Amino acid sequence: MKITEEKLQEQELKAKFQDASQLGFGRIFTDRMFTMRYANNEWTEAKIEKYKNFTLDPSACVFHYSQEIFEGMKAYAAEDGRILLFRPEQNVRRMNNSAARLVMPTIPEEDMLQAIEELVLAEKNWIPRAAGTSMYIRPTMIATEAFLGVHPSAEYTFFVILSPVGAYYKGGFQPVKLYVEDTFVRAAVGGVGDIKTGGNYAASLMAGYRAQQKGFSQVLWLDAKERKYVEEVGAMNMFFVYGNKLVTPALSGSILPGITRASVLELAKHLGLTAEERTISIDEVIEDIATGAITEAFGSGTAAVISPVGSLTFKEKEYVINNNQVGPNTQHLYDTLVNIQYGRQEDPFGWVKEIGRL
Ligand code: PLP
Ligand code: COI
Repeated sequence: MKITEEKLQEQELKAKFQDASQLGFGRIFTDRMFTMRYANNEWTEAKIEKYKNFTLDPSACVFHYSQEIFEGMKAYAAEDGRILLFRPEQNVRRMNNSAARLVMPTIPEEDMLQAIEELVLAEKNWIPRAAGTSMYIRPTMIATEAFLGVHPSAEYTFFVILSPVGAYYKGGFQPVKLYVEDTFVRAAVGGVGDIKTGGNYAASLMAGYRAQQKGFSQVLWLDAKERKYVEEVGAMNMFFVYGNKLVTPALSGSILPGITRASVLELAKHLGLTAEERTISIDEVIEDIATGAITEAFGSGTAAVISPVGSLTFKEKEYVINNNQVGPNTQHLYDTLVNIQYGRQEDPFGWVKEIGRL
C-alpha cells in the first residue's frame, strides 16, 4: 500500500510531555495520525498527516447508530533502542472480525499492519522510555455516510492515533477493588460483546459510573441470561488462581477474546502452571475466596497489562483475596509478560515484532 506522508513544520509540532512517569492513560496524543477513506468499494487516500479534528456530516451513520470499531495495542521501547510490537497480527485479525460483524469493510492484514508500523516509526520520538510506559495505539474505523436510514454505511474512515501512556489504573500495579454487577449487563450471547465496538463501552458506563462513585475501580460483569456466571471486567479478562492452577471464563460469545488472555494461558503452561477455560459461577468464586481455595485473582488486558484484584464486592459484601496483596503467580506472570513485551527476556513464542529502532 502506498502511504503518503505530510511534512509537518517545526512550529506545528506539539510540546512533548515533561515527565513520562506522570503520563497516566490516554490524554496525550502525538503530532500525526494515519487516515484512509473507504468509498466506491475501495480503500483510498492512505496517509500519515497532522493529528487534527475531523470534518463529518452531522448525519454520518457513526453518530446515530454507532457503526464503529476499534483496537488497542502498544509499542514498547526496549532498553537497547528496539521498537517492539506485541502480537500485532492478532489485533489486526480481531479488527477485521469486528468489521465483518458490523458489516464494515475489512482491510488487508498487511496494509493495516503497514499503516500502524509506519505511523509508530514516524512518531518514534514520542515513545516514552520510563518504567511501565509505552505508546498506546488506537486503530479505529467509523461509518461516515451521510444518511439517517438504518443500514450499513457505504463510506468509512479508518484512522490510527497514538498516545504515550503509563499505568491504566491510578494506583499502578496495585490490587484493584471490583464490584460484581448483578443488575446491569454488558453483553448477551448473540450480540456484539465479543468484538471491540464502542457501543459495548457505552452500555457499560452506568454500571461503571455507579461502581466508581462507591470507590470501585471497575465492575465484574455476569452473564446476561442468569446473572450467574462470571464474564469479564470493563477493560480486561478475568483470571482466578487456585494455587498453581489458573481458571478463566471460557469464551462464551459475549466476552472479548483478549490477546493478553490468550497469552497468559500460554505463558502459564510455559511457567509450569495449569490453566482451565470454563464457565465459573459467581457463587463458586465467592465460596472459593471465602475458603481460601482461590489464592489470587487478576485481570488481563493491553491497557491494564496484568492487574491484581484485591477484592470482589457482591451483594454489598466484600470478599478479600490474598489479604489485598499481589500474589506470587500474578507477580511472576506480570514480570514474565512485561519482560517479553519490553524485550528484556527471550521470547520463546515469537510474539514480539521489532519494527525499527529509536
Ligand atoms: N475485555 C474488554 C472488554 C476489553 O476492552 C479489553 C481490552 O482490550 C480486554 C478484555 C482485553 O483484551 P486485550 O488483552 O486484547 O487487550
Ligand atoms: C485495551 O486494553 O486496549 C482497551 O481497549 C481497553 C480500553 C477500553 C481502555
